[in-house]
Amino acid sequence: MSETCLVIEQSLGLNGQAELYGAKNAVLVIMASLILTNGKSRLTNVPRSDDVLQMIKLLRKLGAQVSFYEDEHVLEVDTSTINNFAVGADIMKKMRASVLVMGPLLARFGRADIALPGGCVIGERPINYHVSNFVKMGVDVEIDGEVLRARALKLAASKLVLEYPSVGATENIMMAAVLTPGTTRIINAALEPEVLDLIAVLKKMGAQINLLPPATIEIQGVDQLKPVEHAILFDRLEVGALLVATAITGGQIHIPQAPAYALDIVLMKLGEMGHHIEVGPEEVGIRFKATQSPRAVSFKTAPYPGFPTDLQAPMMAAQCIADGTCVIEETVFENRLLHTRELQKMGAQIKVEHNKAFITGVDELYGTKVIATDIRASCALVAAGLCAQGTTIMTGVHHWRRGYDALEKKLAALGARIECATTETADIAQYSTTAGVWEQIRS
Ligand code: UD1
Repeated sequence: MSETCLVIEQSLGLNGQAELYGAKNAVLVIMASLILTNGKSRLTNVPRSDDVLQMIKLLRKLGAQVSFYEDEHVLEVDTSTINNFAVGADIMKKMRASVLVMGPLLARFGRADIALPGGCVIGERPINYHVSNFVKMGVDVEIDGEVLRARALKLAASKLVLEYPSVGATENIMMAAVLTPGTTRIINAALEPEVLDLIAVLKKMGAQINLLPPATIEIQGVDQLKPVEHAILFDRLEVGALLVATAITGGQIHIPQAPAYALDIVLMKLGEMGHHIEVGPEEVGIRFKATQSPRAVSFKTAPYPGFPTDLQAPMMAAQCIADGTCVIEETVFENRLLHTRELQKMGAQIKVEHNKAFITGVDELYGTKVIATDIRASCALVAAGLCAQGTTIMTGVHHWRRGYDALEKKLAALGARIECATTETADIAQYSTTAGVWEQIRS
């Protein structure tokens, strides 16, 4: 059966300037937070990724009126018509972030019926931290087959301690707490830039939220919240993708909007590889020039401000052709090294033991057929394809589309030879000749 694929040819020396869109991980939760308001909100800088389209479906299902002006990246949501607190498996299974409507629905209706969520296959991804803390806030939770039914006559403010600084649990609980009378404290909260963007939005709505060191969010419940206008923060993960693609192809790039302040450890590691990085005033904007002889660097993922798990896979691709050996340790998700198998197919030398990948740099990677298993794996494989000899054909493109808004077009504008095709066309082109594959696919 023919399926959509990305066809990538070696494209050394990417060069140019790139603009960014808003962060997927900020926009999805901010869209969910609008359920807390009654009226019309306007979000700008909204990426047109498949997860955003899915969240629009979800909000419509709840009764909201949504207009998405895709070309302008503007989203208008009128929540005054929301009249439903149930979300079925058809929507929940496609995107894990849909669980983020639970807190806002509980705050609005005292009820939420949601099918258990889906999303990337990067581990078990339970929602026990969300549920156990809702229970502490007085919510009755019942699992009925695939559906989670949550009921609360009244939400109770509490001191909530997170066993792990889960991004989703922090966001979900905070959204329930902003309309809960009294003081709620979330101890060991996640403080990712996307969580801070949500806090900025909630404050614009009228919520009372304070951050207390080292990682506590304190919320004083208010009676009601008002609609907002907000520009979603630029996507640090899109910046990471662009930097890795540039690094791996030995090129140079200027990203004027890049939130460098949110990428400290990533920039430090790229610097240790030998790449040249200049950060603009107030830590916004990055000029990056790749070294032609990158050195391998080890790193391990951790909650912010540690190395982001979402950039582990792309950064691994860059290590595959670096000089020397390194160890990459994934500590956030237990099953997030699936891309190693695909990189190995391309000639990478990687040994995996539990949650660690041991990499020895090679001189060349080779294009072949690879499968993306999650959003960030797709990014790693595209980056690897850009430096690999020959043609890389990547399937699993739905993951790429879930996370990025036409990133292939941005890469193409920098000189990348990357196009969307079907496996049928790509196969015919690849098997008929090795030379001139690219020309055949384009024609
Ligand atoms: C969010 C991001 C995702 C990123 C991740 C970590 C969104 C839409 N997605 O996902 O891109 O990779 O943060 O930065 O913002 N866990 C539990 N029980 C829970 C919740 C989480 O055990 O109830 C575990 C997870 O399985 C994982 C770890 O905690 O091992 C971190 O997960 P979490 O921070 O919650 O990630 P998400 O919010 O799902």
